[in-house]
Amino acid sequence: METPHPQEPKYLKDDEVSQECMSLLSTLPSESGWLSKKLYKYQGFWHNARQLQGVISCQKYFQPQDTDILLVTTPKSGTTWLKAILFSLVNRTHFKPTKGDHPLLTNNPHTLVPFLELKLYIDGQTPDLSSFASPRLFSTHLPYVSLPKSIQDSKCKLVYLCRNPKDIFISLWAFTNKLRLQEMGTNSIEQVFEKFCEGVSLYGPFWDHMLSYWNESLKNPDKIYFLTYEEMKEQPNLHLRKLADFLGCPFSTKEVEEGMVDDMLDICSFDNMSNLKVNKEGKLPSGESNNAFFRNGKVGDWKNYLTMEMVERLEKICEEKLVGSGLKF
Ligand code: A3P
Repeated sequence: METPHPQEPKYLKDDEVSQECMSLLSTLPSESGWLSKKLYKYQGFWHNARQLQGVISCQKYFQPQDTDILLVTTPKSGTTWLKAILFSLVNRTHFKPTKGDHPLLTNNPHTLVPFLELKLYIDGQTPDLSSFASPRLFSTHLPYVSLPKSIQDSKCKLVYLCRNPKDIFISLWAFTNKLRLQEMGTNSIEQVFEKFCEGVSLYGPFWDHMLSYWNESLKNPDKIYFLTYEEMKEQPNLHLRKLADFLGCPFSTKEVEEGMVDDMLDICSFDNMSNLKVNKEGKLPSGESNNAFFRNGKVGDWKNYLTMEMVERLEKICEEKLVGSGLKF
């Protein structure tokens, strides 16, 4: 048996799962992970062990309310940003974005908008959600096929955010390297690129994740709002207003005239958030440093890292997998 590292953060404590989860894991295909020792394929997507325990528990126990709002993302698509935006949007009557006591100034967005399977359900228990005010705001990386059936059946709304896979890849490579302990060394870009292209990455294959929500959003546009990081970067004011309309909390003419939309974008901006003390120095209860969620927040940073061959390979995968869907990057 390996000796546990004394300071091993919780997010690396992969083996701390129930007997029931252990038994399930032993039946699943597995591959080595980018950060965790192993990834397991469940319902067509790759998860680490503890995360999978959260998925199963969430599928069993989560009971949505019709007013719930669920942010769904592919990892590294800008989840942290959209959590901040959604939080400030739905709570704007209580917390004006210009006020000095806004919760986003002292809390990381992951604390304010918790992940279902990565936080609330990760220990395999049923969390007490009674303190959540309505509308409750949650987030998840769950693929559509793994969403609790109750979510699909309820009237709750889903906001799906994705991003150009080339930027997702670079962001995920950098993020997982940052979270690796010094003695684990870092993953070379070539090592993990191969895995990404084979779909073996957290909640991968990325193409199946995106495509299923894309198709569902076309079928059911009142339930799923599909958005990309690039659109949000290019026209944030427009997309924030559209998001508010979709969620049934449109900005009033007065709010727009008073600059509320831009104030909200300002407090949630990369520059503002990445410079807050809480995000520079704080940590999540699971051990990740908050600053790991803020790298540079740019569109197209992949150009600084990927070789021509890598670009061609990823573009070919996207073409082949997304063909005929209408979804393009
Ligand atoms: P980069 O690594 O390309 O910089 P997630 O929140 O899903 O984990 O995604 C993280 C990515 O979103 C990182 O991308 C991070 O820098 C970027 N990001 C975090 N906060 C942001 C913000 N307020 N505005 C824009 N991008 C942000």
